[in-house]
Amino acid sequence: MKLRTLDDLDVAGKRVLLRADFNVPLNDGEIVDDMRIRATLPTIAALRERRASQVIVCSHLGRPKGKPDPAYTLAPIADRLTELLNVAVPLAETPLGPVGPGAPIFLLENLRFDPGEEANEREFSDRLASLGDLYVDDAFGAAHRAHASVVGLAERLPSAAGLLLQKEVSVLSHLLEDPARSFLAIVGGAKVSDKLPVLSKLLEHVDRLAIGGAMCFTFFAAQGFGVGRSLMEPDQVDAVRTLMHTAGDRLLLPVDVVVAEKPEPGVVTRTVPIDAIPEDLAGYDVGSQTCRNYVDAIRASATVFWNGPMGVFEVSEFDGGTRAVAAGIAKGSAFSVVGGGDSGAALEKFGYVDEVDHVSTGGGASLEFLEGKTLPGLVPLLV
Ligand code: 3PG
Repeated sequence: MKLRTLDDLDVAGKRVLLRADFNVPLNDGEIVDDMRIRATLPTIAALRERRASQVIVCSHLGRPKGKPDPAYTLAPIADRLTELLNVAVPLAETPLGPVGPGAPIFLLENLRFDPGEEANEREFSDRLASLGDLYVDDAFGAAHRAHASVVGLAERLPSAAGLLLQKEVSVLSHLLEDPARSFLAIVGGAKVSDKLPVLSKLLEHVDRLAIGGAMCFTFFAAQGFGVGRSLMEPDQVDAVRTLMHTAGDRLLLPVDVVVAEKPEPGVVTRTVPIDAIPEDLAGYDVGSQTCRNYVDAIRASATVFWNGPMGVFEVSEFDGGTRAVAAGIAKGSAFSVVGGGDSGAALEKFGYVDEVDHVSTGGGASLEFLEGKTLPGLVPLLV
């Protein structure tokens, strides 16, 4: 997949509309993790080096349902950009401006404050496009959304992918097209129903597929084991059985799990084999033997893709599996790619973010890309 790049645009003296994905986790208005903001800095720097007259950055944040909501203002993002760039980044009052001519970088207010953004309305796209001369898309995390700022702008202005979007597409394409062997994918998360499409697709590419997180309980149920009070999706058991049949011995499943009454700090925990989960308890992490097996598999691989935590890693009693996988990947020599969202947050928490080759800024977008879906945001940027 080849996208137009900054080299295809003559940005000197032009106003560039830059779509970023600054949909970052917030706690009481404080940014919890600014990875997505920092990941866009190289593109902003490149546009300034190439002497764009003004860089007008736009993004969504959260799901404010088409109307202004102070809980989702981009004000904290403008402040963080100002700190990181060491240049004042004013915030426009609305998603459509006004944009003063004085500042070299401007941030528009949350695009989703206007219903035209998610509806990809013609008039909203026209008005947004009128703010710039060129369009650069660096919002890989939003590439699976056919919204005005993602597709409408690319259809109206000369456009190209930013450096982050280009890197995301190149790394994820490499996983699908030409990975060094052997290739291991480790997929966790709560619900197997969310991950089945990507698991099936990954099986076409990987040498081994390791499963963790609460979704493993549906795999245990498919083998006839009791799962106690663990999260399990009965309506997915048949689909999981089919997947297990397709995967054969390429599939690695947990052999033990950490069980407890509830996933809360201070609870009593036990590690039990997967065929001995007590009826009155639930599993919240993979066990220590599983950790050793998965770390061995990581060591034996030349390429590793990881998406989704192995357990409730926010609670220290249940963070062992996620920590072991994160450490195994960080300390290993395989080319490593970590899917965004929770696994990226886990890497950050355990201090390994700089030890992996690529942490994707896309959650849903990276999964849809790996599923082989056409991402609407990429289509108008194709060469
Ligand atoms: C994400 O965080 O996955 C993207 O920013 C897309 O957000 P959305 O799921 O609210 O469209």
